[in-house]
Amino acid sequence: MDTDLRLIRLGDASPHVATLAGWAHDEWGHLHPGRELAAAIESFRTDCGPAGVPSVFAVMHEARPVGMASLVADDMSDRQDLTPWLASVYVRPEWRGRGIASRLVRRVEEEAQAHGHRRFYLYTPDQQALYRRLGWKDLEDRRYRGEAVTIMHRDLAPMP
Ligand SMILES: CC(C)(COP(=O)(O)OP(=O)(O)OC[C@H]1O[C@@H](n2cnc3c(N)ncnc32)[C@H](O)[C@@H]1OP(=O)(O)O)[C@@H](O)C(=O)NCCC(=O)NCCS
Repeated sequence: MDTDLRLIRLGDASPHVATLAGWAHDEWGHLHPGRELAAAIESFRTDCGPAGVPSVFAVMHEARPVGMASLVADDMSDRQDLTPWLASVYVRPEWRGRGIASRLVRRVEEEAQAHGHRRFYLYTPDQQALYRRLGWKDLEDRRYRGEAVTIMHRDLAPMP
C-alpha cells in the first residue's frame, strides 16, 4: 500500500461515517430493500465500535477516506450460527489495484484474532479469487437474497 495512505479505526462520531455508509448503501443497498439512506447511516454508525466486534476500518488519503472494511457479528440473516464476519470491503474505483483492500482485510483479521476469534466468515458473489489469495477457504456456495454467493472462512491462530 502507498506510504501516503493511512489505515485508521473509524469511531462512531467520525465525520466520515455518512460517507462510508453512503458507499455501502450504493453498493449493497439492494440487500436491504426499503431501507433509506438515513437508516443505513445510523446502522453503519452502530458498527463503529471501539474494539473487537463490531469495528470499522478506513484507509485515508490525506483527509479523505478511500476504502473501508468492517468486522461485524452478523452479516447473513439466516446464518446466525456463523460469527463474526468480515463485511463491507470497499475501495473507491480510482484507488483499486494497489493493495488497499488486502491491507484492510489483514487489519480486520488482526482485530478478530486479537479478540479471541479462531475462525471468521465472509460472503461474496464475485471476489472469491481475491480472498483465496489472502488465505480464505470456500465453505459453501448458495443463493442469498437472489444472488449466487460463496460463504468463505478464515482460520486464525490463537494469539501467542
Ligand atoms: C473488491 C475490491 C474491494 C478490491 O479492492 P482493491 O483495493 O483493488 O484490492 P487489492 O488491490 O488489495 O487487490 C485487488 C487486485 O489488485 C492486485 N494488487 C494488489 N496490490 C497491488 C499493487 N500494489 N499494485 C497493483 N496491483 C495490486 C491484486 O493482486 C488483485 O489482483 P486482481 O485484479 O487479479 O484481483 C474493490 O474492487 C471494490 O471495492 N469492489 C466493489 C465492492 C466489492 O466488490 N467488494 C467486495 C465485496 S465481497
